[in-house]
Parts: sequence; C-alpha cells; structure tokens
Amino acid sequence: MSIFIALYLLPPLHLFLCVTATKDYSLPYSPTDLILLNCGASSNLSSPDGRSWDGDSQSKFAASNPPEASSVFEASNQDPSVNQVPYMTARIFHSKFTYTFPVLPGPKFVRLYFYPASYSNLDISTSYFSISANNYQLLNNFSASLTVSARIPPVDYFTKEFIITVRDNQKLELTFIPSPASFSFINGIEIVSMPDSFYARGHDNPLTYVSPDVHTFLDNTTALETVYRLNVGGQDIGSTGDTGMYRTWNQDSEYLIGQAGNTPYLPGVKIKYTTKTPAYSAPVKVYSTMRSMGPEPLLNMNYNLTWIFPVDAGFLYLLRLHFCETRKEFININQQVFLIFINNQTAEHDADVIHMSGGNGIPVYKDYIVLVPPGSQSKQDLWLELHPNMELKPTYADAILNGLEIFKLKTTDGNLAGFNPDPTVAPPPAEQHPERRTGKRSSIIMVIGIVGGSIGTVFACSLFLYFFAFKQKRVKDPSKSEEKSSWTIISQTSRSTTTISSSLPTNLCQRFTFVKIKEATRNFDDQNIIGSGGFGTVYKGYIEYGTVAIKRLDSSSKQGTREFRTEIEMPPVIPSLPKDQASLADWARKCYQRGTLDQIVDPHLKGEVSPVSLNKFAEIANSCLHGQGIERPKMGDVVWGLEFALQLQQTAEKNANSVDGPNLHC
Ligand SMILES: *[C@@H]1O[C@H](CO)[C@@H](O)[C@H](O)[C@H]1NC(C)=O
Ligand SMILES: *[C@@H]1O[C@H](CO)[C@@H](O)[C@H](O)[C@H]1NC(C)=O
Ligand SMILES: *[C@@H]1O[C@H](CO)[C@@H](O)[C@H](O)[C@H]1NC(C)=O
Ligand SMILES: *[C@@H]1O[C@H](CO)[C@@H](O)[C@H](O)[C@H]1NC(C)=O
Ligand SMILES: *[C@@H]1O[C@H](CO)[C@@H](O)[C@H](O)[C@H]1NC(C)=O
Repeated sequence: MSIFIALYLLPPLHLFLCVTATKDYSLPYSPTDLILLNCGASSNLSSPDGRSWDGDSQSKFAASNPPEASSVFEASNQDPSVNQVPYMTARIFHSKFTYTFPVLPGPKFVRLYFYPASYSNLDISTSYFSISANNYQLLNNFSASLTVSARIPPVDYFTKEFIITVRDNQKLELTFIPSPASFSFINGIEIVSMPDSFYARGHDNPLTYVSPDVHTFLDNTTALETVYRLNVGGQDIGSTGDTGMYRTWNQDSEYLIGQAGNTPYLPGVKIKYTTKTPAYSAPVKVYSTMRSMGPEPLLNMNYNLTWIFPVDAGFLYLLRLHFCETRKEFININQQVFLIFINNQTAEHDADVIHMSGGNGIPVYKDYIVLVPPGSQSKQDLWLELHPNMELKPTYADAILNGLEIFKLKTTDGNLAGFNPDPTVAPPPAEQHPERRTGKRSSIIMVIGIVGGSIGTVFACSLFLYFFAFKQKRVKDPSKSEEKSSWTIISQTSRSTTTISSSLPTNLCQRFTFVKIKEATRNFDDQNIIGSGGFGTVYKGYIEYGTVAIKRLDSSSKQGTREFRTEIEMPPVIPSLPKDQASLADWARKCYQRGTLDQIVDPHLKGEVSPVSLNKFAEIANSCLHGQGIERPKMGDVVWGLEFALQLQQTAEKNANSVDGPNLHC
C-alpha cells in the first residue's frame, strides 16, 4: 500500500522539483532596485535604449540639500551626436551636495554619466571634484574634461561604473564635493541591484591570488570599479542586451597585441547555464563567441594570445575570465589545456575548460586577484596571456577566452580614486583640420570603393580599411613622397593581425594604426555611421587627408582567410548586400542616378567639385557594388577610372578658373 502511494506521488513531485530548480539559474536577473536619474531634467524622458529616466529637478533623492547648493543647466551646445538622455542636462554643484537613495541592503551598481561640455558660462575644464558613496571614495579631485581628452580617440561623454554594497541602514548616499574654487557636475545616475555574492563575495569563495604575498578578501565591504568588460571574440553588447543588470560589454580586439588568434564561427550553439554559472553571469552572446589561438599547433606553441589593459597603478584588480567551450569537437577533458598568465605570472597552470565547466556548451568563470604596484606612471599595463600547456599531452594545442571583466578593488582605507590623466597635447579631431573648419579648400577625399569581405577566422575583430582617396594635386601630403599618381589606396589591419601578403602596389598603400582609425571615427561612434551591410559597418572618418569612409568588418562573418585575401586583392566590392541593409549601396546608386555624391562630400567642398568628375566617381562606385563578383571591374580598371575622374576634375578647374562651380545636391 505504502509503496503504491510512493510510486503514485513521485512523478508529479519530481516535475515540481525540476521546475523550481530550472527557474533559479536559467532566468535573467530581475533587479530589486532600479533608479535612473536624469540630472538637471524637469520631466521623465526615455534614453535611446528605451529606458525611462526620471528628471531630478524636484527629486526626493536631493531633498536634504539647500536650494543654493546646486543649479540645473542644459548643455550650451545641444550636440545631436550625443544622446539627449541623460547627457543634455546637468546638475551643477557649487558646494557639497548629497543624493540619498533608499535602496535594499546588498550590492548595487552605481553608474555615473558625465558629459563635460559647456553649461551656461561655466568653463568645464575648471571643474574638479570628489565623489563618495557611503564610506567609499569613488573619485578624488576628478576632472571629467581631462578624462575625455585622454581617451583615444577623444570621446564626448563617458560612464563610470562602481559596485557598492549597501548595509542594513538601507541607503546609498552619493556625495559630490567640488575641489577648492571649483564646481562639480553630473548628468545622470543609475543604480541597479545585482545578485548577492556575485562580484563582491563571501570569504569562502575560491579566488586565485596571482601576486605573491597578496591576501585580500572579497566580501560585502569590498567596493569595486569596473574598468573593462569585454565580449571576447564577439561584438559590443549594449545595456539592454545584458542579463538584467544593464551592464555593457565591449569588443576585445583593440586590447590585443600581436597575433589575434581565431574567432570561430559557431552558429546555433546552445549555452547550458548551471547553478554554478547561472544565466545572469553573462549573456549568451558572451559565451557563444570566443577567441581561440587558432588551428595551427606549431604556430600556437610559438606565441601567447595577449591582451594589454592600461589601469591605475597601486591597486588590486579582480579579473573574471569567462569560458565556454562550444566547438563541437571539444567534449572531453584533456583535449585542450592551457596556461593563463596575468602580469607575466602564472595564474593557472592547467586550465581545461571542459574540466572546469563540466562539458561542452556549459559556461564557467574564474576569478583572479592581482596587484598592480605603484610605479613611475600613474597608469600601468595589465597583461593577460594564454598559451597551450602540452605537459599532459592534450589533443589540441590551443587556448580560448569568451569574456573578461576587470575590476579595481578599493584600498584598505576605502579609496577607489586614481589620478587624472595628464593634460594631452593632442587636440580633438575637429581641431586637427583647421583648413576644413575655415572652409579653405585643401583636399577632397572620397571613398568610392570599399573592400567587402570578412575577417573570417584569422582576422577576426581586426579592422580592415581599404579605400581610394581622391586628392587634388596641390595638397601637401607628408606621408607620400615620390608618388606621381594622385590616387592613394589605403589599406590597414589592426596591429593585432598577422601580415596580409598583398599584391597591391606598395607605393599606393598607406597603413594606419588602429588608434588612428578610432580617432578618425570618434571611436566608431554611431553618429559617424554612413552605411552598413551584411558583413560590416561603414563609418565616416576624418584623417589628415580629409573625409574618408572606413569599413569595420563584422567579425562574426564567416568567410575564410583565402576569400578575404582575394577580396583585398580584388577591386573594391560589396558582396551581396541584403536589400534592406544596403544603405551604402543605395547611396552610390542613388547618387549615380542623380549624378552627384552629396552625402560624403565635405560641405565646404560643395561647389568645388566638377559634376562630371563626381559622376564618374559615382559610376565607378556603382560598378563596384555589383552583387556578382564577375560584374565588378578589375583593380586596374578602377584605378584607370579614378585617374579619368581626376583628369575631369582638373580640366573642369582649368576651364572654370574663378567661376563658381554648381552647388551639389544628391
Ligand atoms: C516620473 O516617474 C516617476 C516614477 O518613475 C514618478 O514618480 C514621477 O511622478 C514622474 N514624474 C513626472 C513629472 O511625470
Ligand atoms: C587637482 O588636480 C589638478 C590637475 O590634475 C591639480 O592641478 C590640482 O592641484 C589638484 N587639486 C587638488 C586640491 O589636489
Ligand atoms: C555582509 O556580510 C556579513 C558577514 O558576512 C553579513 O552578516 C551581513 O549580513 C552582510 N550584509 C549585507 C548587506 O549583505
Ligand atoms: C611582461 O613581459 C613583457 C615582455 O616580456 C614586458 O614588456 C612587460 O613589461 C611585462 N609586464 C609586467 C607587468 O611585468
Ligand atoms: C608567454 O608569456 C609568459 C609570461 O609572460 C612568458 O614567460 C612566455 O615566454 C611567453 N611565451 C611566448 C611564446 O611568448
């Protein structure tokens, strides 16, 4: 009788257990506290990611301050390239000012949004201030304008992210203190809770101490600052693509040094989260893309897959490495074993992802603590290197990484503040082209073809540029000496790629550093996007030659190295742009049909370019956009066409002399 009942009851009970267990770890995080404060704004507004921000003009969070302690301003220049919310309004503090946020106990993300622009008549470069959160010093004598100008390329705005655990008094006090004879400001404040024991954790969690003699604990008194969060081998992930905590994840390619390894294309992989690595740990996009060393064992034995991160010296850092083996041939332990070096010290001697995670498709993360000692410079490089370990004779000589987070830990006296960067001598990009600004003619650069294709396996996440620059002959160009032709073919890969052996005439080639490309496109700012295709995005950029178009290839594109190389050596093409994404192609076609190329031409040059010449350009560009490779012109034909267009331009100039050219409109 009893046996019968047990059998009868078991299945439903079993089912019930399954459901609750799944619920725990397979769902994204749902924040218990979520505050978005648009400082200086009087009404509630939405940011481009669709989140709603409260205005703080009558904010209950600021009630403890006298009215004269702060004022609200709109940015004097309502720059359309900067998000309206939360950046276009600011609260300016003339004296000490405290926001008090009632929140539940536990760890919180505190994100501070800064847009150091001009507000009323205030000179933002004279703004120095400190910020503390509860008892932690987040920033000290901090200059937002020095911070933006030290970024490469300079940016207009930025966010700082901290992790603070709120105690049982249930409040988070954020205090702004201007430096003497200065003022402080803030554009936006975001507070988001996170799971307990997620980053700042209890004493019993395993942590690997990489530096000798370093014994710190991570617990709920540890405040942290996020300094890097990367989707290794993948794409940028915005706040709404995260797992409920609104974290942002960036590409890793710009931190790579030397060989870039491989970013295998792994369609349709399933990520199996576990209680140990629940779904909120990192998005599927992080675990389903990776960077590996590559398929060549001999090559892999001879190099380290290396990333370098500038960080503030004199702090401990927490590195969280995310792994997930999703390549289908990796299913057993001892198929791939590798060394992990952090700052040239062995952090892990035999990392075996399958062993750590429990199987293919199962994610896992590992935490390491390293000291970056004070040095002569306020910034030091933090090195992360991976290398195969063949001692146990694993099947493959390879190593992988899927995601990486780097946090600065507070010092024993509760400080997280680093030093301001030194004032930079480099002017912002706009100032580098005074001749364009004053409208004086100097150069015409037009992209008429951009090599399509993909970085594929070897060149993943690197950048490839390839364009023809049309230059007027009177332009002084310091980087080209003997060249007779007025055409320049510019091709570039990021510093991390292996050499592309190209049959392109080297006197027509010009290499650019990745830093330079970032500078030119304002760090691939969305506002600079002029088109996108199925395999990458085209940005408008400014280099010393003038305006150029720069194509950043989509690393998830899956064409192989050989095709890629072929495409470099072939004329500029944009293979099979999907109809709905063909804005660049559409542009060329439209301009060709209408006879002008308005969108890319520098406005100052309008009226200075001969319509016949422009039309020739558009014609060439258009021919390069044929979906079928066979219909695209050969390199020689393109160069010839460009020469012809230049001649047309020169002829037109001779004939026109002082007569103004026609105004161009697409
Ligand atoms: C803004 O939204 C908050 C809730 O998020 C609400 O309490 C407040 O009344 C709203 N303010 C306005 C001006 O609509
Ligand atoms: C704040 O920093 C600036 C520049 O970094 C420096 O000139 C100034 O003396 C500092 N002020 C204080 C109070 O430390
Ligand atoms: C912080 O940790 C201590 C000891 O581990 C614990 O008693 C306390 O409840 C924790 N506080 C919060 C806010 O998590
Ligand atoms: C690690 O080694 C490299 C090359 O040997 C060196 O350039 C770098 O400074 C070292 N980094 C640290 C943090 O010691
Ligand atoms: C990899 O890095 C480690 C630690 O910095 C270094 O000892 C080793 O020589 C490097 N190996 C190669 C092949 O560069």
